[in-house]
Amino acid sequence: MRAIDIIRKKRDKGTLTNEEIKFFVEGFTRGEIPDYQASSWAMAVLLNGMTPQETTDLTLAMVASGDTLDLSGVVEVVMDKHSTGGVGDKTSLVVEPVVAACGLPFGKMSGRGLGFSGGTLDKMESIPGYRCDLTTEEFIKQLKEVGLVLTGQSGDLAPADGILYALRDVSGTVPSLPLIASSIMSKKIAAGAQRIVLDVKTGVGAFMETLDDARALAESMVKIAELAGRKAVALLADMNQPLGIAVGNALELKEAIDTLHDGGPAQFRAHCLVIASHLLFLGGAADSVEDARQKAEAELQSGKAWERFRDLVIAQGGDVSYVDDPELLPKASLIEHVPAPRGGYLSGIHARIVGETAVLLGAGREKKSDLIDHAVGILIHHIVGDKVEAGQILFSIHANDQNLLVQARERLLEAHTWSDKPVEPLPLFYGVVK
Ligand code: URA
Repeated sequence: MRAIDIIRKKRDKGTLTNEEIKFFVEGFTRGEIPDYQASSWAMAVLLNGMTPQETTDLTLAMVASGDTLDLSGVVEVVMDKHSTGGVGDKTSLVVEPVVAACGLPFGKMSGRGLGFSGGTLDKMESIPGYRCDLTTEEFIKQLKEVGLVLTGQSGDLAPADGILYALRDVSGTVPSLPLIASSIMSKKIAAGAQRIVLDVKTGVGAFMETLDDARALAESMVKIAELAGRKAVALLADMNQPLGIAVGNALELKEAIDTLHDGGPAQFRAHCLVIASHLLFLGGAADSVEDARQKAEAELQSGKAWERFRDLVIAQGGDVSYVDDPELLPKASLIEHVPAPRGGYLSGIHARIVGETAVLLGAGREKKSDLIDHAVGILIHHIVGDKVEAGQILFSIHANDQNLLVQARERLLEAHTWSDKPVEPLPLFYGVVK
């Protein structure tokens, strides 16, 4: 077999066999197929697509390129959740303890923020001492003993994806549906996931801006799960406006803590309950999604979900006094509450601009190596459809640099758009793909 023939076949819209895909993935992972051939192949895939079977074969070849986590014997059913990324998305911080409180152990490997999209690990690292670098042995031990884990990727899971992603990043081949779907699913499957809830965002603050693209990605990932003998459900979630009020690490952590105390913004709480319900139903802890929702809501109200979150923080070395009293969390030196420049109905709060502004303040990274400031961020006090009076507080900026604060104020004023007529609120979800 030769790499050039496989590239030509995909260039000419052919369907690759499992052997050809394996040969190619093994070749570039071992460094035997050079970068220029791997990027040429990625471009052929981007232009000509892949069948569901090819996409699954690619996923499984990337899984086979490294370690896989075997959690059988540790938990009855291995659950996982994945969000395709967004602004203000602190869902995992709430959903994991809720699911664990309902009796389903949950170990999750999460990522860091990149670009305008935030990352779960950065939010948890606002807690002094909290470790996101558990070893595989520590992951398994904690899952067994505590029943919940929230850490970074341990072991050498799906290394082919890491290599291919780096190439895609510099060869214009990131936005390929089969390449994105296989990239995400290879990491989930390598981490042992059997039942997966996918929170696929759509809108101006999402990777997939249109609903059609988000649905296609969701369908592709659900199909991969099916062909790979796993079960997945994908929820198509709005990401035109930020999720919840807070954007920025310690601010988001605080909002998650409020939500775990059965408070928090209504829109964010409702989002978490839907994701948790699907996880509980898929994991066999409830007879229906509705039953699951009631269970999840009951554990938020009972305080058990909050207790599980504390257990998680303690197990991973975090100083629990910071979550017991969130006033201790990192605080910015400058806080400005910005009034609405006019009255009317909010017709848009551009999630991407809000996310980029949080990065500008220091809450996120442009490059993987950038350091972040856990204290800074933004509170967006309204949602689309709200009627706001002139002079009412529209948003608050938490900054550590006066120049950046001024720039942030300008951008955030532009991110808010207005109508004189009533505006329909945005839906939380646009559909479910099973
Ligand atoms: N997230 C991933 O993990 N992979 C992609 O290709 C895109 C987003």
